[in-house]
Amino acid sequence: MPEVIKVGIIGLGTVGTGVVKLLEEQKKDLVWKAGCRLEIAKILVKNLNKKRNVDIDNKLLTDNWEEFINDPEIQIVIEVMGGIEPARTYILAALEAGKHVVTANKDLMAEYGKELFDAANKHNLDLAFEASVAGGIPIIRPLKQCLAGNTITEILGIINGTTNYILTKMTNEHVSFDTALKEAQKLGYAEADPRADIEGFDAARKLAILASIAFYNRVTLKDVYVEGISKLSLKDITYAKELGFVVKLIGVAKNTLEGIEARVHPMLIPISHPLASVNDSFNAVFVKGNAIGEAMFYGRGAGELPTASAVMGDVIDVARNIIHNCTGRIACTCFFHNSHKPIDKVIAKYYIRMHVADKPGVLASIAGVFGNHDVSLATVIQKHRSGNMAEIVVITDDVEEKHIQDALQVIKGLSIVSEISSLIRVYSEE
Ligand SMILES: NC(=O)c1ccc[n+]([C@@H]2O[C@H](COP(=O)([O-])OP(=O)(O)OC[C@H]3O[C@@H](n4cnc5c(N)ncnc54)[C@H](OP(=O)(O)O)[C@@H]3O)[C@@H](O)[C@H]2O)c1
Repeated sequence: MPEVIKVGIIGLGTVGTGVVKLLEEQKKDLVWKAGCRLEIAKILVKNLNKKRNVDIDNKLLTDNWEEFINDPEIQIVIEVMGGIEPARTYILAALEAGKHVVTANKDLMAEYGKELFDAANKHNLDLAFEASVAGGIPIIRPLKQCLAGNTITEILGIINGTTNYILTKMTNEHVSFDTALKEAQKLGYAEADPRADIEGFDAARKLAILASIAFYNRVTLKDVYVEGISKLSLKDITYAKELGFVVKLIGVAKNTLEGIEARVHPMLIPISHPLASVNDSFNAVFVKGNAIGEAMFYGRGAGELPTASAVMGDVIDVARNIIHNCTGRIACTCFFHNSHKPIDKVIAKYYIRMHVADKPGVLASIAGVFGNHDVSLATVIQKHRSGNMAEIVVITDDVEEKHIQDALQVIKGLSIVSEISSLIRVYSEE
């Protein structure tokens, strides 16, 4: 049994700093938790002169990749640098050099997961990535191991803290999207360039990883339908609340007979649903399985120590595998190649807000068009009147998306309709 396993860390930013702190704080306990001491051999950074937020022996820092990768002592590489390149090249080189890899990199796992797993499998190495989805919340290992006895049918997740913070602020404090975004940026929840978060791409990458694992199928970013929250109006959030819903950015993945459905978009969630009370920057993943029924995983989806907590869990697991000579045990689990269900085949309920002429027969005409497209209406409410115009809100029963889109094309062309202001999907048990 080795007395010590040496790790090499790529990146000493938010997550890297947390990992260094936990390695120090847990130093004594790791001996019995992992079965050996875990020590840092090297930390690769970009800028050697940067002031660090953690006490670190400067001799451990390097900006020289060759020096890092050629260090024979490093057995586990912890990649917490982020981005696609050079992270992809570095991880492939580490695996080629026989080093196990722990990464927090969702961008990379969502797009190049297969390539990285193939490289790890070739050498019987571990490639662990718990921190890549929902930060500190354990979800990848639960899906791969604890819930392996289930057939997972559905995953619903609030997997982006920035957008959840913005939506919570809009819901509870009635502020506009722009005001809530500025506040999120001030608190460090949103990046200066917030597009990846607010347009849904960050959540889509995480959903692709979750769906791949849950359904044993390869799902990548291009298979996920994505709509962000930047066009959501405060009015819709307020109306939703009056109707008994909250609006959340939800990642939905379903394994259906017609293929795998994966989509990220705003959704009206009934206030009684557990996801409705996931607020601020918290994340949650709601899983449905044939045996477990429903389970929800809740917690901090980002941040220095929560994310480092997930990274350290992986590092300890890899160390145990090294000690027990059983690395490469849990490899890639994408065994199937099911087709992907396009968005127009998805079945959902829809919330639609529109501005129409305020005169007799208008509602009947609109209901008639919906009826002609097999769309039945569960709720129709007139919200507001101004001059000769009225604002109406409609919630449909479950219907295929194509029928809704076709009906709205016809409705848009009616002279009595001035604008279709919003369309938001509503949570559906189907
Ligand atoms: N932050 C979170 O809460 C969170 C949550 C979940 C997952 N993640 C994931 O964790 C990863 C790291 O995120 P982070 O927030 O910690 O990033 P970060 O604060 O921006 O830190 C990035 C680190 O990588 C180093 N780096 C960048 N380019 C490099 C290069 N070419 N060669 C060597 N080092 C380089 C930087 O070095 P310098 O310090 O010298 O500039 C910095 O220390 C990302 O994949 C992210 O998606 C983050």
